[in-house]
Amino acid sequence: MPEKIDIYSGATLDSKIDLSIQRGSKNSEVKMEKYTVEYDKTEVVLDLVHRVQAEFAPDLAVRWNCKAGKCGSCSAEVNGSPKLMCMTKMSDYTNAKSMEIRPMRTFPLIKDLVTDVSWNFEKNKQIKPFKPPTGVKELTMYQQHVDRIQEYRKCIECFLCQDTCHVLRTHEEFNQYAGPRFMIRLATLEFHPEDQEDRIGEIKNTFGVNMCNITKCCQEVCPEEIHITDNGIIPLKERVADNFYDPLMMAVSWIKRLL
Ligand code: SF4
Ligand code: SF4
Ligand code: FES
Repeated sequence: MPEKIDIYSGATLDSKIDLSIQRGSKNSEVKMEKYTVEYDKTEVVLDLVHRVQAEFAPDLAVRWNCKAGKCGSCSAEVNGSPKLMCMTKMSDYTNAKSMEIRPMRTFPLIKDLVTDVSWNFEKNKQIKPFKPPTGVKELTMYQQHVDRIQEYRKCIECFLCQDTCHVLRTHEEFNQYAGPRFMIRLATLEFHPEDQEDRIGEIKNTFGVNMCNITKCCQEVCPEEIHITDNGIIPLKERVADNFYDPLMMAVSWIKRLL
């Protein structure tokens, strides 16, 4: 039998799998639809979703952009695990006869695999930006500061950590906790050696750092391998504890506010 080749990618379609994909929108019934698709073991899950669109369901809604793990658009839950579909290799599912693909559960459904993540962008707007020192012409950054902030800045805003965090996902504390992504953004600013802004009260009260109970589930799913809890949230918690509960630091911080 001649080999079947995908006309767009050139992939050799020599394997078959039953994909169950969540279909439906906020205004319609939501159910799992099964599609049997051929694939090549070198492909990624997003390739198969595109094949479903091309061959069976042109109206299937899926968000993606770069197909290179850099835009953070194609976040979904593959067999219950939060993943970037474009970075999830079919070679990791050898011998699987079926696979389930659902949208991120933590955010409101728009349609099929697309969710409304706008809450994150609204939360981001509440964070005070970098404030440079006044009267200084050149800022000095040492390598250890660059290394620290470089890790935080690898974030691609895929929101898989937000999807995973049980404070948001299970307890729906959207008013109490900004979530791991924004703890990382706050750490980027707070641990910048030249930043002069005072956000410590907001980190505790508005963004709710104390809601995190350090389960570390968020850092396990981060595609950029950012040590969200170890290198971001725990140091922020320590800074909050120093400022609010250490008498000496409380006095220093009170004097600083007066100056
Ligand atoms: S470590 Fe904190 S932010 Fe991360 S998943 Fe657990 S509770 Fe959420
Ligand atoms: S911290 Fe990691 S998991 Fe969270 S949004 Fe950024 S890249 Fe995604
Ligand atoms: S399409 Fe950009 S990260 Fe997957």
